[in-house]
Amino acid sequence: MSVVIIGAGQAAAQLIDSLRRRGYANAITLVGEEGLPYQRPPLSKKYLAGELSLDRLQLRQRAYFDEHRVELRLGCRATAIDRHAKCVRLDDGALLNYEHLILATGSHPRRLQMAGADLAGVHYLRSLSDADQLRTEVHVGQRAVIVGGGYIGLEVAATLRQLGMEVTVLEMADRVMNRVVAEPVSRYYEREHASHGVKIELGARVLALQGDTGGRVCSVETDRGSITANLVVVGIGVLPTDELAQQAGLSCDNGIVVDDYCRTSDPAIFAIGDCSNHPSAHYGRRIRLESVDNAFEQANTVAANITGTPTKHDRVPWFWSDQYDVKLQIAGLNTGYDRVVTRGAAPGPVSFWYYRGETLLAVDAANDPRGYMIGKRLIEGGKSPAPALIADPDTDMKALLTA
Ligand code: NAI
Repeated sequence: MSVVIIGAGQAAAQLIDSLRRRGYANAITLVGEEGLPYQRPPLSKKYLAGELSLDRLQLRQRAYFDEHRVELRLGCRATAIDRHAKCVRLDDGALLNYEHLILATGSHPRRLQMAGADLAGVHYLRSLSDADQLRTEVHVGQRAVIVGGGYIGLEVAATLRQLGMEVTVLEMADRVMNRVVAEPVSRYYEREHASHGVKIELGARVLALQGDTGGRVCSVETDRGSITANLVVVGIGVLPTDELAQQAGLSCDNGIVVDDYCRTSDPAIFAIGDCSNHPSAHYGRRIRLESVDNAFEQANTVAANITGTPTKHDRVPWFWSDQYDVKLQIAGLNTGYDRVVTRGAAPGPVSFWYYRGETLLAVDAANDPRGYMIGKRLIEGGKSPAPALIADPDTDMKALLTA
């Protein structure tokens, strides 16, 4: 009778905590190919900037796992799941039996597929060791070329710029952060980066990376010409890590398919975090989320389900991003919006409210924690204030919560 967790990230750390708090007394084994669980968000921000120590990056210290009676199998990969025998095989040959298996395998960066993509000096940023390697190559005055103007690209651009590098971002779409935000928010961030001296090229097609005689990247070829690069950071999205689940015959479709209870097509196996594709009653469709909040909430849901309190996972998601002095907070998902209402103006607090018809879907708030908090509560409560009220600077926003 035991729980085995594969993947030692944020979801796993929360699941352990939640299980023990709920009185789960049986064995827990944590399998992970890296070290102790740590926070990934600071890797592109404070940790990369050298403002956060490794100690503070870690979610829990080793003593915590002893105290909570967790067997750690770190530096280890799970290579196969035998669903019939209910056991997991590890790459060191060990076999772990489980009553409940939790896949918290996360996601991995999409790789650039072109000549020169494997040259030295070409970085991805997902793990602690990626961040450590990148840090050793940051030199004041040298040029970093960032491929992809999404979360990773822009957060790394801001950090490297603040560390004194010249930075160019190459984004293939016609605006930055196009996956997650609407045009006015993209333009807000393009202006913010421009004001800090970061060059953003939109609609740019990267064709190849060129190396010097030592095999290190020295330039990036685009459809508009060549850009000198002392280092390249690639942030072109992530893919769910679901190979193990696929090999075990679990249903997968853009991630590991789970039900309302985070259960996979095998009732003894759950999937949580970036790798899980779950139904959202709130949005009326399946979603796969890449966020700390989702990892945290799904972990809590599974802990409840394992300890005998059947619980459905259905939350309004939230996200955040820090770039320079701007904190972006996002509540909800904007998919399907047909209108964006802006409240406030830079350099003060600004929020962007997404509507489909008269229904409020999501809110993006830049340096506007109050707007974010009110927006999140309205969405959670299924309330949609008239767009004209949001646009009116004289509206008492707090009163909308009780209207
Ligand atoms: P992303 O999906 O946010 O952005 C990728 C960007 O790359 C898109 O704008 C896309 O148009 C562009 N792109 C794709 N192929 C390209 C190409 N060949 N050339 C130029 N541009 C190209 O993915 P990103 O930034 O890699 O982040 C990955 C994940 O990391 C996020 O989904 C999230 O899970 C996590 N993350 C979250 C953060 C946050 O919430 N603040 C911060 C950093 C990372």
